[in-house]
Amino acid sequence: MRIPFSKVSCNGNELKYIKEVIDSGWLTTASKARSFEEKVAEYVGAKYACAVNSCTAALHLALEAMGISEGDKVFVPDMTFTASAEVIRYLGGHPVFLDVEYGTCLITPEILENAIVKHPDVKTLVVVHFGGHAAEMYNQQGNGIVDICKRNHIQIIEDAAHAFPSQLGDKYVGNLGDVTCFSFYANKTITTGEGGMLVTNNEEIYKRANTMRLHGINRDVWGRFTTDSASWEYDVIAPGYKYNMPDINAAIGLAQLEKAESMREKRQKVVEFYYDELKDVDLLDLPVSKVPFKHHSWHIFHLVLSPDAPISRNELINKLAKEGIGTSVHYKPLHHMTYYREKYNLIKEDYPTSEQIWQNNFSLPLYPDLQLEECRVVCDSLKQSLGV
Ligand SMILES: Cc1ncc(COP(=O)(O)O)c(C=O)c1O
Repeated sequence: MRIPFSKVSCNGNELKYIKEVIDSGWLTTASKARSFEEKVAEYVGAKYACAVNSCTAALHLALEAMGISEGDKVFVPDMTFTASAEVIRYLGGHPVFLDVEYGTCLITPEILENAIVKHPDVKTLVVVHFGGHAAEMYNQQGNGIVDICKRNHIQIIEDAAHAFPSQLGDKYVGNLGDVTCFSFYANKTITTGEGGMLVTNNEEIYKRANTMRLHGINRDVWGRFTTDSASWEYDVIAPGYKYNMPDINAAIGLAQLEKAESMREKRQKVVEFYYDELKDVDLLDLPVSKVPFKHHSWHIFHLVLSPDAPISRNELINKLAKEGIGTSVHYKPLHHMTYYREKYNLIKEDYPTSEQIWQNNFSLPLYPDLQLEECRVVCDSLKQSLGV
């Protein structure tokens, strides 16, 4: 691809910190992971952080720590990646899929309130901050998602795979609700290659997640080998998982974190260019941002093609690919996925907005090192393909 859809930006202290790990002789979880946790917690203003090997792992640990078990129902958006919902099934729970808002692809307070009336037995919600746009957790009317959940005794898990760093008002995502899960997968806004982080202000959730991420052992591995007490003196208090983040990955994360805001600013410049160039193209619906641009992590620039366009979404994607321009689709909604559709008898009529989005959605290249001349090539090719 001349202009790939996604490209990692590793031009800071990544190699330096990786070398420090290799020189230390200790390649798995140790001081770099600890330091990465402290710095991420400090960045978002949360008390505790738990570094793990994926956002999926963080979501699983969060649900487990919040007590989700066999038969529990959990609200989750239909327009998301399967990880947001599959973790509910890991614990024997059942996702209850919610349609999303056109333009933001988010669950709104209104969507949630209607869902509560229909499903009063659901007591947990997974919110996805789609594309990096923080969902309306709070608002001036005191009727944000957090307020509604408090009134209805619903616990919230934030899937912030796209949202580092994103803000709602003066607070960062990671310090808005009970527990938040970030992804540091290779294509995310900051990366560790593979990795994730659970952050919370709740000590009990933190302690449980911290224990369960490493086999349910009541001492961390590094602690076992760096203190005077016997390394074999540990207890297993539950059948935990193997989800810890190795120091090699944390080393990359520490270097990425140093550039998190400058990389975000570069992505914002790309987005501003796209809005400027494409705002008058009637055949395209651009993403709606209800938060200031500088509060948005801009992981994805997500558009919807008009059904009146002279070519279909798939033809457009193929045409751009032939010209060397990578695009993607976020997402094929979960009600279309065989497993969820068959298990829960899902029908598209119940998800009219995500169905409408899915028929024509696509995402443009967006990464810090994308040059504005390249953005111009993307926009020119797109407009030419649409005959405008
Ligand atoms: C919304 C959402 N949630 C969760 C995940 C899972 O992240 P990870 O690959 O770090 O497990 C992704 C990955 O792309 C995602 O897009």
